[in-house]
Amino acid sequence: MFIQSFRVESPNVKYSEESIDSIYDYQTTELVHENVNGKYEWVIKPKSVRYEFKTERRVPKLGVMLVGWGGNNGSTLTAGVIANRLGISWVTKEKIQQANYFGSLTQASTCRIGSFKGEEIHAPFKSLLPMVDPNDIVFGGWDINNMNLADAMARAKVLDIDLQKQLRPYMQGMNPLPGIYDPDFIAANQGERANNVVKGSKKEQVQKIIQDIRDFKSKTKVDKVVVLWTANTERYSDVIVGFNDTKETLLASLERNESEISPSTLYGLACVQENVPFINGSPQNTFVPGLIDLAITRNSIIAGDDFKSGQTKMKSVLVDFLVGAGLKPTSIVSYNHLGNNDGMNLSAPQTFRSKEISKSNVVDDMVASNAILYEPGEHPDHVVVIKYVPYVGDSKRAMDEYTSEIFMGGKNTLVIHNTCEDSLLAAPLILDLVLLAELCTRIQLKKEGEGKFHSFHPVASILSYLTKAPLVPPGTPVVNALAKQRAMLENIMRACVGLAPENNMTLEYK
Ligand code: NAI
Repeated sequence: MFIQSFRVESPNVKYSEESIDSIYDYQTTELVHENVNGKYEWVIKPKSVRYEFKTERRVPKLGVMLVGWGGNNGSTLTAGVIANRLGISWVTKEKIQQANYFGSLTQASTCRIGSFKGEEIHAPFKSLLPMVDPNDIVFGGWDINNMNLADAMARAKVLDIDLQKQLRPYMQGMNPLPGIYDPDFIAANQGERANNVVKGSKKEQVQKIIQDIRDFKSKTKVDKVVVLWTANTERYSDVIVGFNDTKETLLASLERNESEISPSTLYGLACVQENVPFINGSPQNTFVPGLIDLAITRNSIIAGDDFKSGQTKMKSVLVDFLVGAGLKPTSIVSYNHLGNNDGMNLSAPQTFRSKEISKSNVVDDMVASNAILYEPGEHPDHVVVIKYVPYVGDSKRAMDEYTSEIFMGGKNTLVIHNTCEDSLLAAPLILDLVLLAELCTRIQLKKEGEGKFHSFHPVASILSYLTKAPLVPPGTPVVNALAKQRAMLENIMRACVGLAPENNMTLEYK
């Protein structure tokens, strides 16, 4: 059975006009390595830690500024939201298609919230806490190419033509602001696109981005802005002590107009200085240590890196399943070919290298979790290949071969062939990222013993379900397994309304 909304009634939760206040007992463990009669043994002590959560109920009018607005993802997302807002349907060769938000965790997935007369009851994920309705988002942003969004949608060749025709009048007046362009950071083949660029020193460019955010806010009358990078993948920038390793050195490098500060880091600097959440949807190391340091000091939300949309999402499910089943993946080989502008940009070795890195670490936590299968330091062979094949356009092909060792020396090989429009996978993730980042700005928490409420850590690992290489606060474990990432997000949202984590015990039926 499905219900649209609910209210929790419990001594642990209070709904007021302004906020939802909950008390939550976090069940965790403490481990000690104890000397018992001259022999060391591990002792696990369950413990309960009390938290209080406070979630602001008033949902703001949200503005989303995309870096790379005129790209395939940016134009597809903008078109998709307008189509949903207007309830547009269009004719395909198969049927009349309605606009939807399939692929969005918040908009199109559900949570089990209990059982009623022996039936499982599910509710929309978005009903857990008050969230911005995506149909109400105001879009804006930057692109180094000046094409308006209607033409950009046509250039992307992602959406059906009948839909494009209906959307054109709403999108042709949308024009990206000039972007920060540095040919040293993206592939040379992007050069002819760059006809809409910000001039001046790096510091002036940061100031210009800050001014753009302020102007957008006042023009559109939105209450809050979230900025998300969906521009081309950049090469890695060098991380150098004394150059970008702390906020002081990074800001000093900005003063000196150092060439090694990437455009994405410049947008990040602008957002952090303006206290606007900044999310990186591409694989490069935008968040150099100095920028992370500055975000922590200014308590400004940052999240990334690289949307986890297709092949890697599958990998973070499949390897979790294999290792969790006691099987030992020993070789993972991933081939991709795609023919969109992202693919063309990734055909340069430096930008490909960024993608290769972010795609490579995705199984680390699963491998490290099972010392029965893997010796310390042992790792499956893991190879990632990406080729540019213009003909397939946005319809990306991903071919994966997983070989595992099974019972008594046997071998199991799984092969997956995945064909899908890349931007139709990424656009709903962008939506989730901005909606959840906005939600994070309205949640405060307090652990027992802490005097004051505070926000989550500004490095928003809570968004990691949506990213390939989750950025986490320094010293925090990285979780890649998709089911764990989803459970983390869902259970934190449940805690905010005083509900226990979903433990799947279904004891009521046992
Ligand atoms: P795209 O190439 O169609 O769009 C990127 C846009 O960014 C272009 O319009 C370009 O002119 C613009 N741009 C480049 N540098 C800029 C700058 N410094 N400032 C402002 N604009 C700039 O690429 P697409 O397919 O939209 O992908 C965007 C990014 O998302 C890529 O880095 C890609 O690797 C990443 N990504 C995409 C996924 C997907 O499933 N589509 C999955 C994971 C990551």
